[in-house]
Amino acid sequence: MGVSAIILAAGAGTRMKSKKPKVVHGLLDKPLVRWVVDAAYAAGAQDVACVVGHGREQVIPLIEHDTAVIVQERLIGTADAVASCAEAFQGHTGSLLVLSGDSPLITPATLRSLVAQREREQAAACVLTMDLSDPFGYGRILRDQEGALLGIVEQKDCTPEQAQITECNSGFYCFDAQALFKALEEVGNDNAQGEYYLTDVLAIFRKEGRGVCALQTAQPQECLGVNSRSQLAQATRQMQRSINERHLAAGVTMTDPALVWIGPDVVLANDVELLPLTFLYGKTEIGEDSIVGPNSRLTDAVVGSGCVIEESIVAASRIDDGATCGPRAYIRPGTHLCRNAKAGTHVEIKNSEIGARSKVPHLSYIGDAVVGADVNIGAGSITCNYDGTHKHQTIIGDGAFIGSDTMLVAPVRIGSHAFTGAASAITQDVPDRALAVERAPQKLIAEWEAFKHAKEAEKQGAQQEA
Ligand code: UD1
Ligand code: CA
Repeated sequence: MGVSAIILAAGAGTRMKSKKPKVVHGLLDKPLVRWVVDAAYAAGAQDVACVVGHGREQVIPLIEHDTAVIVQERLIGTADAVASCAEAFQGHTGSLLVLSGDSPLITPATLRSLVAQREREQAAACVLTMDLSDPFGYGRILRDQEGALLGIVEQKDCTPEQAQITECNSGFYCFDAQALFKALEEVGNDNAQGEYYLTDVLAIFRKEGRGVCALQTAQPQECLGVNSRSQLAQATRQMQRSINERHLAAGVTMTDPALVWIGPDVVLANDVELLPLTFLYGKTEIGEDSIVGPNSRLTDAVVGSGCVIEESIVAASRIDDGATCGPRAYIRPGTHLCRNAKAGTHVEIKNSEIGARSKVPHLSYIGDAVVGADVNIGAGSITCNYDGTHKHQTIIGDGAFIGSDTMLVAPVRIGSHAFTGAASAITQDVPDRALAVERAPQKLIAEWEAFKHAKEAEKQGAQQEA
């Protein structure tokens, strides 16, 4: 027993006008099909299978780590898509959810109610329905005088009277697994589209005397299917609103929630402040009293409390309490800014640790470096970490002072409390407390201005004579 799920994701999505299959398109940085897979698991499904077909080489990498992948060779209808899972679900009993891979807004709560209702009524099927003022395009729910569910008729097969029905099939179902696969064998394709319709199983169940039921949702917006770019934008807006409302209610400030985009797995502490044009994606976490934005994008960033991240991009990095970034810092994967460290303006840091209270304030590139505590890195300094073939490490000890425009040619080690002179290209290790200077001595030419004027006068005289 238990709950399993099949996600239909074989379709092309022609109306997207895209090289990518529809379900690969992202909503808040997560592919459509992943939203549905994650909702199925969150609703309690133990086994999940995805039916793929069109553009499957792009879909499979998104799902193969946690779902069974079933390839539908020819897209001849939703009944055939589900039937192609028969072998994978052999021996499965209990509830089987069938979900559309292009409907990312469905909530685990709604899926759980669908399962609960089917199980309570011991029905062979429970369909999630919705009442729409504009039902065009959807399958219509047929009921008898008493309101009992008779079946579903597709738009293209509707009589004019049936086309008036406003109760529609959302495309979400819960079935009795065994009954479903048996009934699918009887589905034909004698209809306007010549397709094998999953929806035909309802009438088949009725004929067999099996119970079927419907759950009409009070939240039809959850069932929005994404068939076009416009619907993708609409779905994004809806999800953005619902996620932002949750964070606002939990004590996060947003100057304008319409201008903040937060992925579903982001964790925000109390009194976080998000300024406009902020994107928080992946497994990002932000601690208390931190301020992010404007115009910032954080992906898989773990940020402590009291941090300020202004006009910056942070990816797969850790930023500890009190550290600051930006304006306009680019913090690339593998970076760790320790407590109260600073990555300033036009600074790029990659795969490096910047120790507590250390500062990289202006126009620097730091890559593959381990920087101790209380280090100051002068403006324009760079770790030359790449020799064209390999990457090398730079190590800078506690309390070191890196003069402006130092080129640290890695591999190289700067001792603790050591100094480098401005504009030095450092190619050899610097011992603790030493000063390394590498530059030509400065030349001085006295009275240069008078010399220069005399030269110019001489030149002009020569031209006039010619
Ligand atoms: C389907 C329903 C319709 C419902 C609507 C809700 C059927 C016959 N009709 O219509 O009653 O109102 O959803 O959105 O089911 N797919 C496959 N393999 C196939 C065909 C489809 O995997 O051979 C997938 C599609 O990629 C999609 C889903 O199944 O994710 C639904 O198929 P689609 O063709 O979009 O059905 P609709 O016409 O929208
Ligand atoms: Ca559809």
